[in-house]
Amino acid sequence: MNTKNNNSLDLLTQISDDVIHCTNCELCHTRKNAVPGEGSASANVIFVGEAPGKSEDIQGKPFVGRAGKILEAALLNAKISRSQVFITNIVKCRTPRNRRPKQDEISRCNDYLNKQISVINPKIVCILGATAYSALLGGKGITLNRGKLISIDGRDYFLTIHPAATLYRRRLLRVLEEDMMKLSKLIMEQ
Ligand code: URA
Repeated sequence: MNTKNNNSLDLLTQISDDVIHCTNCELCHTRKNAVPGEGSASANVIFVGEAPGKSEDIQGKPFVGRAGKILEAALLNAKISRSQVFITNIVKCRTPRNRRPKQDEISRCNDYLNKQISVINPKIVCILGATAYSALLGGKGITLNRGKLISIDGRDYFLTIHPAATLYRRRLLRVLEEDMMKLSKLIMEQ
């Protein structure tokens, strides 16, 4: 590994440590484990979901439950390996009964994601679902905008649906698969 990667790894480890010990909001009282995120320090894509669910809270790892299996299958299908990417969330702790994170929780957690993005400096930040779209870019209408690559302040963002949405609407599986194929092509082109 080169010096830049070693440095990024140290910085990412520091961010993870800070997340694990974070008491910035009320969620620290109800979580079992904070979930900083995981993956390569030199990832070309960072995936950003909403917040950890029950399995993630137990294991301290992102997307290891039902939504995670769906994401993993879509990545595999598009030949994107988990080892090339970094996976994290807008909010790093599980919310009670998996409710939507509150604006205050999002704001207090914001800095961790911004730091992760700036340390890894990926080619593309892949936004998974409406909460991440609104928290990161102030966007609305993920269903209308999914499949798009948008560039803001020199950073490229790819928009897609949240993998959990496919659990309630099976036809969305195809949509997620298509988007991951498109993302795979974008990574190779860039
Ligand atoms: N849903 C998310 O948004 N993130 C996870 O880590 C798991 C499920």
